[in-house]
Amino acid sequence: MSRGWLAAAVAAIGVGASAPAPAADGQAVFQDNCVVCHQANARGAPGFIPPLADTLGNYLHVSGGEYYLANVLTNGLVGRISVSGGTYDSNMPSFAGQLSHGEIAAVLDYVLRHFNADSLPEEYRTLTAERVAALADEDLTANDMHARRGELIGRLGEEGLKR
Ligand code: HEC
Repeated sequence: MSRGWLAAAVAAIGVGASAPAPAADGQAVFQDNCVVCHQANARGAPGFIPPLADTLGNYLHVSGGEYYLANVLTNGLVGRISVSGGTYDSNMPSFAGQLSHGEIAAVLDYVLRHFNADSLPEEYRTLTAERVAALADEDLTANDMHARRGELIGRLGEEGLKR
């Protein structure tokens, strides 16, 4: 048996990984669906597209953070927002019907672990397809998500956390 085979098998079942293997390849989902707007370094485009780096981890420190992230992916987001001192007023598309719940879980997990590691809460657990399915609310619109974001930012402010 070659070493290559063993390495591949170990990678496939996730042995030795620090976290449970997510349901899909989050990095690939990110590259195929998000980089066109948010850029490969997740820093966005000032004035047009908000950054996803060093901004999303704090959301998980207040209630509703996971819910917000899952539903932005399944419902989109429109309306003026402020992120890390910049202002944005554009359109985040809904990925419902385009990405599975497993792919949404994986891409959020990738963005959180890869670009927001410094602000992730210690108790953060890898998102699963089941968790996204439980959080996703089909009755919400992109406009509703703008209101939900406002509530979330309010809770961040109460905790003295960066928005
Ligand atoms: C067509 C461009 C576009 C694509 C593609 C896109 N986004 Fe967005 N995204 C935006 C814009 C624009 C906003 C801000 C919307 C606003 O101004 O209200 C946003 C907002 C977000 C937010 C909320 C940020 C915050 O601080 O509240 C998250 C999370 C997010 N996007 C994740 C993703 C992920 C993950 C993908 C890939 C699966 C993706 N986006 C694909 C344009 C895009």
